Amino acid sequence: MLRVIGQNLPRADGVAKVTGSARYVDDIRPEGCLYGATVRSARAHARVTAVTRDPQFDWSGVTLLTAADLPGINVIHLMTNDQPALADGLVRHATEAIALVAADSRDRALAAARHVRVTYEDLPPVFDLETAEGSDTVIYSSEGEANNVFSRVEVHREPEAPIDKRGLRVIEGTYRVGLQEQLYIEPQGMLAVPREDGGITIIGSMQCPFYIFKALQHMLGHDRINVVQAATGGGFGGKEEYPSMLAAHATALALRTGKPVKMVYRRDEDLRATTKRHPAVVRLRSAVTPEGILRRWDAHVIVDGGAYNTLTPVVLSRAVLHLSGPYRCDEVHLRGVAVATHTPPNGAFRGFGAPQAFFGVERHMDRIARELGLDPAEVRRRNLVTDGDLSCTGQVLAGTAGFPVLAAPLQAARPEIPPASPPPGGSGAGWKRGRGMALVFHGCGFTGNGEAWLKGRVGMVLRGDRVRVLSGSTDIGQASETTFIQIAAEELGIDPSRVTLDERDTDRVPDSGPTVASRTCMVVGGCVQKAARMLRDAVSAETGGGADATFDDLLAARTSDAELAVEYQYTDDGSLTWDGDNYRGDAYPTYGWSCAVVDLDVDTDTGEVLYRRFVSATDVGKAINPAVVAGQIEGGSIQALGYATAEEVVLDDQRCMRNDRMTNYIIPTAADAPEMVTVLVEVPYVGGPFGAKGVGEIPMDGPAAAVAQAIEQATGAVLDQLPMTPERVLAALEGRA
Ligand code: MOS
Repeated sequence: MLRVIGQNLPRADGVAKVTGSARYVDDIRPEGCLYGATVRSARAHARVTAVTRDPQFDWSGVTLLTAADLPGINVIHLMTNDQPALADGLVRHATEAIALVAADSRDRALAAARHVRVTYEDLPPVFDLETAEGSDTVIYSSEGEANNVFSRVEVHREPEAPIDKRGLRVIEGTYRVGLQEQLYIEPQGMLAVPREDGGITIIGSMQCPFYIFKALQHMLGHDRINVVQAATGGGFGGKEEYPSMLAAHATALALRTGKPVKMVYRRDEDLRATTKRHPAVVRLRSAVTPEGILRRWDAHVIVDGGAYNTLTPVVLSRAVLHLSGPYRCDEVHLRGVAVATHTPPNGAFRGFGAPQAFFGVERHMDRIARELGLDPAEVRRRNLVTDGDLSCTGQVLAGTAGFPVLAAPLQAARPEIPPASPPPGGSGAGWKRGRGMALVFHGCGFTGNGEAWLKGRVGMVLRGDRVRVLSGSTDIGQASETTFIQIAAEELGIDPSRVTLDERDTDRVPDSGPTVASRTCMVVGGCVQKAARMLRDAVSAETGGGADATFDDLLAARTSDAELAVEYQYTDDGSLTWDGDNYRGDAYPTYGWSCAVVDLDVDTDTGEVLYRRFVSATDVGKAINPAVVAGQIEGGSIQALGYATAEEVVLDDQRCMRNDRMTNYIIPTAADAPEMVTVLVEVPYVGGPFGAKGVGEIPMDGPAAAVAQAIEQATGAVLDQLPMTPERVLAALEGRA
């Protein structure tokens, strides 16, 4: 009988956030703190010929740094070390950092940054992702060639017996998606404080303290560094890799001035300069029977990485691994290429390649249904994988939940929604109602043997009758802190009020791996459970207590009140095999499954889409805290509805974001959210804590395609490009007419 798991325990961070006592980085003001600001490139591709100070400006008390003044290696250490902390003579994208200033107030620092004069000699830029590969202008070389290719991925599965090609229809389509901004509520911010030992303490808004630690260690060449997570107002992937850049900048200024330096971006700077979701073009070609059964599936995706590599190869990998959808097909050929362009680097964002892939895959399933005159949900049902089927990499699927998630929302979505009021001043054609659905799966955790390689660790400390969990995993709003407390309390059989989490300080907690990839609950939560078992065993060994004694019985038998500490390190159970060179085998430990059904109205005069009801069913393995899990799904779904119809990054002629405010980069608010029905399906994953699977990213994957299908059902307009803004919907409506 579970006591704590499955309960809606109030969030551990809830009171502090609601009352305003939680301390975000901008709330922390050390004595003598200076403020930093960044001088950024106005050009997409140029040689920097000079960086000078405006003589009209009062420079007293202002520190100015360029690449030559950096305290170590001018590299933000990540996958390929291609990105400098400050541009050194050459800028490869608009908003690239060229110089840093520090002053005693933020206004002074920003004013000083505006008075740094940069002169450029323009070079030809490469902007188009479809022609970037092999362009004469070179941004990035790989495979021994100046090819502008960050990475390639290929997955091939040949049929066991030759396929009977008679009577097959070949159906082709091209699908495009644009940039998307994470728009976490708290902008990026970092504070660097010089340490007495000559090192540096970083406090800030982040997902991955140990990524920052490793980046600074690489830059400075020593490890007198500790990184502390402040309360963090969201990340969605946007605070996965970018914070290493900001931490490097704050560190450079702090070491130069000998004073604490804080840098908190204004919203406009954050929007212009930080990473976004990769734009992509997906081309699909499939051979299907007249009944809509897939016989061959060929897919190609190009993703635009921007000017530096960041995590793009991993994003491409996940995109390709989801590019055949949750469907059975004997012959699958998937290819992907990530290219470099002179645009600000794109990076991690909730879904991490899968939303791009699924917009293509699910729209293509709609195209198959359309061309064959079949019902879209039925085409999916006929091809849906189940236990024992093979994935594109030949993984034998287990614990699948495609059928339950497909059935649930179609039942839950009752049709009776009152019609929208006729739009004032319209032609009278009015609103048209439509319903659409999409079906997705999402690989939980790192790809392949990533976890075995990473060896995440979690510590647990007993003092008196209280337990502390030590983990480098960050709570960025997804309530992982609460989830960990529930897992530890359940495993130990104690009240959750006796469990706390230590502050995420790299000096004091072990590296649990990054807070990414829908892995925190499933993988690190699993480590929390195992650490709790270790702790129980340690107390049992100390007291000689038996296996049937409760943890509290064991504690009562302790004669010492000494602290007891254990540390669990992730170990692979050897059940997964992955060949990363050939993309064969078990691509993910397990998969989550989700079906989204959206009811909407389309204003046929303006192209506006009004969401009326959103029903989803998602397999989460086991809901540790159902309110938290439903919250993740609802928030992610609304973010996906924004991706579908609202969120458009408008770029100027240097590929700098023009709509860099929350007033003109439009995301859905509570007022735009439809009625939501969130069904949780629980097909347990044996490797997860109490059966839990990852749930953070999957809500982002399907809704955009469901919206496109609903618009098509309502109006007949076919949209294969995101975002489906009113202008695009109207153009599609007119194209049809
Ligand atoms: Mo993520 S998008 O794996 O932070």
